Amino acid sequence: MTRKACVIGWPISHSRSPIIHGYWLKRYGIEGSYERIPVKPEELPAFFSGLIGQGFAGCNVTLPHKEAAFRTVGTADAATSRLGVVNTVFARDGELWGTSTDGEGFLASLTAGHPGWCAKGQTVVILGAGGATRALVGALIDAGAARLLIANRTRAKAEELQRDFGAKVEPRDWTEAAEILRHANLLINTTSLGMTGQPPLTVDLDNLPKTALVTDIVYTPLETDLLQRAKARGNAIVPGLGMLLHQAVRGFDLWFGTRPEVTEELYDLVARDIDPGYRR
Ligand code: ATR
Repeated sequence: MTRKACVIGWPISHSRSPIIHGYWLKRYGIEGSYERIPVKPEELPAFFSGLIGQGFAGCNVTLPHKEAAFRTVGTADAATSRLGVVNTVFARDGELWGTSTDGEGFLASLTAGHPGWCAKGQTVVILGAGGATRALVGALIDAGAARLLIANRTRAKAEELQRDFGAKVEPRDWTEAAEILRHANLLINTTSLGMTGQPPLTVDLDNLPKTALVTDIVYTPLETDLLQRAKARGNAIVPGLGMLLHQAVRGFDLWFGTRPEVTEELYDLVARDIDPGYRR
């Protein structure tokens, strides 16, 4: 039987998930499909009501539906309850369940991109406290990180993360960003700064230890200005594309029954879609 999955969002034309899941379907010889479906916010309840009937094993959920999907489908695990968002929906025994794979995708990307890396006991400096930050904070705390210093332009959002995730989260003013880098074992940009079409991230890196690992959740461009500056001064870097690839693993397994591998070939395929001039 052909198994079907899809990604929903509004707009959805930019999503690279069909490239990822299409690659795995072919690689594992699975008879299945994965398509993009544009769904307007007001159409979301009807979309979910009809999903199983239309033969779908589930879907990925992207902007702006992640919170609404969380409220609509069952919550599959405790980590997802704490996040309040889902990015992956799957059918079991005629019902829809939702989970979030962003946190594990983030950790898996760091481990794959920097073998031997481990969150345990680490001090992490996070720039930004928007929607994407929550899953990372949850995953890093669960993986044993010691301190998460979070600098955000709107400090109240970093304080909200402290309320939700506890005292390991330490809110900081955005103006303190350059100063607190001296504590970092790991530096993460979760702001939209540095993304193609957005202003650059100009935080000075002078205080950052050369031993700190640097990553960015922005993957357009593949190597943000932050990553280039960090690399130029000798820091190890992990580009953001890895998180996109690794967060897709569990969804594919839930829908198609095979845990897929994030290969170099897949990385290159998606990297070339983002930047046709990409060379490994
Ligand atoms: P969300 O994911 O909640 O929708 P967003 O608008 O995508 O948030 O922004 C993501 C992050 O980038 C936020 O931390 C945002 O800071 P605020 O919480 O203060 O909005 C950050 N960000 C966006 N533009 C920024 C800028 N010019 N300077 C500093 N941080 C910025």
